[in-house]
Amino acid sequence: MNLSIRPRRNRQSPAIRDMVRETVLTPGNLIYPLFLQEGDENTPISAMPGCQRWCLADLVQEAGEAHALGIPGVVLFPRIPDELKTPGAEECYNDDGLVPRAIRALKAAHPTLMVITDVALDPYNSDGHDGLVAADGRILNDETVAVLCQQALCHARAGADIVAPSDMMDGRVAALRAALDHADFTQVSIMSYTAKYASAYYGPFRGALDSAPKAGDKKTYQMDPANTIEALREAALDESEGADILMVKPAGPYLDIIARIRDASTLPIAAYQVSGEYLMIKAGAAAGWLDEDKVAMESLLGIRRAGANMILTYFAKKIAAVL
Ligand code: PBG
Repeated sequence: MNLSIRPRRNRQSPAIRDMVRETVLTPGNLIYPLFLQEGDENTPISAMPGCQRWCLADLVQEAGEAHALGIPGVVLFPRIPDELKTPGAEECYNDDGLVPRAIRALKAAHPTLMVITDVALDPYNSDGHDGLVAADGRILNDETVAVLCQQALCHARAGADIVAPSDMMDGRVAALRAALDHADFTQVSIMSYTAKYASAYYGPFRGALDSAPKAGDKKTYQMDPANTIEALREAALDESEGADILMVKPAGPYLDIIARIRDASTLPIAAYQVSGEYLMIKAGAAAGWLDEDKVAMESLLGIRRAGANMILTYFAKKIAAVL
């Protein structure tokens, strides 16, 4: 053949492939979600092989190991004892609660580690919803936002670097920014779950925290998986309300949303590779059908290529070690 243009020339050796590579994945792109519980024991999570609900001491140890591998931050998800769950979710702003104690312990042991907290009521709410539930079953928006502000202030007082509202109530970013600034926490960042979809991929996570809704579903606040333009509307709102980082969740099935928001905003983009995405790779590997590290790496590179600066992933520590 008389070809003057041969794209394969740029793939012919590891050296040239290194030179032309467009996307890189480093431990610095990864955020490690960690589950925690009361007591002195760790409990393996059956639907999330390799993940545990950590007791405080081992949480600090695990976060330190991840940080030593180059992972800049962790995000905390507590399993709240049933007797502390109430319709008003008051435990979420208890300064002696599990999350504030964990923040203080983490920051004392690893001052350079970014501690990110989830702001939503579901682990604390006896109804299992991210917001307060009215007698008729409606999720109360404005009343919920007031409680979320108390929760975020509690995390800021304990030393959180970033609060991450995952509740999808309207107006919460502006309310959180105002509450934080009013209390002199202007340095605390908001990583907003901007486009959080009503996804079946959250199943293993809800099992891990026993946080599934007792009645109904989350479709009146989380987004319809069919929608794109609505995600751009949420992104514009969160940006105008003062968010520092926009998040898309889940990640793998929503790469188009990551790319669209990347183009529409100048803010950094985070993507959350959620429990169901993790489990599918783990299950395939456990059956001997997939190479776990290679598939995990490719899934994360794809999320980076779509435009995410940072990825929340349960693979963070394992993949940082491989990298
Ligand atoms: C709750 C929350 C959820 C996840 C993160 N924060 C579950 C939900 O919305 O029901 C899911 C994470 C995962 O599946 O890994 N506010």
